[in-house]
Amino acid sequence: MLGDMENFTFHNPTRILFGRGQIASLDKELPTEARVLLLAGGGSIKKNGVYDRVIKALGSRHVVEFFGVEANPDFDTLMKAVELGRKAKVTWILPVGGGSVLDGAKLVAAAIDYKGDPWDIPAKRMSDLPHALPIGAVLTLPATGSESNGAAVISRRATKEKLPFISPHVYPRFSILDPETTFSLPPRQIANGIGDAFCHVIEQYLTYPANAAVQDRFAESVMRTLIEVGPKTLANPTDYDARSNLVWAATCALNGWIGVGVPQDWATHMIGHELTALHEIDHACTLAIVLPSLLHMQRGPKRAKLLQYADRVWDLRDGPEHERIDRAIAKTRGFYESIGIKTRLSDYKVGADTAAEVARRLKSRGMVELGEHGDITPEKVEQILRTAA
Ligand code: NZQ
Ligand code: ZN
Repeated sequence: MLGDMENFTFHNPTRILFGRGQIASLDKELPTEARVLLLAGGGSIKKNGVYDRVIKALGSRHVVEFFGVEANPDFDTLMKAVELGRKAKVTWILPVGGGSVLDGAKLVAAAIDYKGDPWDIPAKRMSDLPHALPIGAVLTLPATGSESNGAAVISRRATKEKLPFISPHVYPRFSILDPETTFSLPPRQIANGIGDAFCHVIEQYLTYPANAAVQDRFAESVMRTLIEVGPKTLANPTDYDARSNLVWAATCALNGWIGVGVPQDWATHMIGHELTALHEIDHACTLAIVLPSLLHMQRGPKRAKLLQYADRVWDLRDGPEHERIDRAIAKTRGFYESIGIKTRLSDYKVGADTAAEVARRLKSRGMVELGEHGDITPEKVEQILRTAA
């Protein structure tokens, strides 16, 4: 199947401030009269000095702080931040942390003035959200692309749900990306970042050809960069060159550039979110479990792009087609394993019986036609997860 590039409108309003010392730019990015809700996670920013630098840059602005946004930000926690923000009449949300803190900030920004039940925002996937407070972000973990997109994924442990929402109102107005703020990350989180960004590219690239030469070449360059700098930055976490390339690669993987005008998949992510909701497996690890198995299952409809991926990303040009595809899928699994991310459900002590449960949950949400062709049914999801056992 070969399509044309689809019509598109592209607008990414996030101003990026990249590099050493950029936290000081907060002072010129935030209006002096801003009433700021600083949102943070479990305290990494206090240990690595980021918090002190942010507070210094904020100067005499009115600031209230909310710590405790967990990895896979929880709806009930975020509602406490909303309450605080309403009471303090904040006018800006300032997440300082990883994708979870940034995503949490997006829900808080959308919920503060929202009249109905804020759970509707992710539950009804409200793309027509009327309004959100402005967000300025300080990113400390390269992975999700949340620093320059309009997406957020919210978890609700009380009901074991994890749901995304997308709105043009929640793009950060600006994001500060200082690679040095990420030097303190433990290897597990660096690997998660590499693995997540890699999968974001695959979800927008490994579909079917759409005559989108720039998007394809750009996607391939982001993947090759991740393959090249990933191991380097894991081995030497304070190497600025490797880390700065990881940070920018992760942003480029999900800021919209490679996704314009092309078909997109996202089934790996939707299945992965259910695995996190059910078993608390790290986001990137769920992708590593699902992706190789999904590519194997979808090797027919994805044939042309799999061959292009084999050729341009893994330099696999010899041998029959089915072998090149097998080797490209094996390389993908091997890449995750090489950065320390296990790729089997059993590695996470999860039994194959989760396959039916995930399929059931997706069905109950009406997610019965996943993938770029809408041909990944709950039955196929179950098979994909059984193959990933
Ligand atoms: O909470 P703290 O103490 O800050 O510690 C965090 C957390 O424990 C720690 N950390 C962050 N920066 C650090 C650091 N530790 C030391 N030094 C630093 N500089 O890392 C841990 C994980 O942080 P988290 O924010 O959860 O990680 P990540 O950035 O990978 O975000 C994952 C979340 O983003 C969602 C995922 O589903 C998941 O909920 N996603 C969001 C997307 C989006 N908005 O577009 C797309 C993605 O596909 C993804 O689904
Ligand atoms: Zn992801």
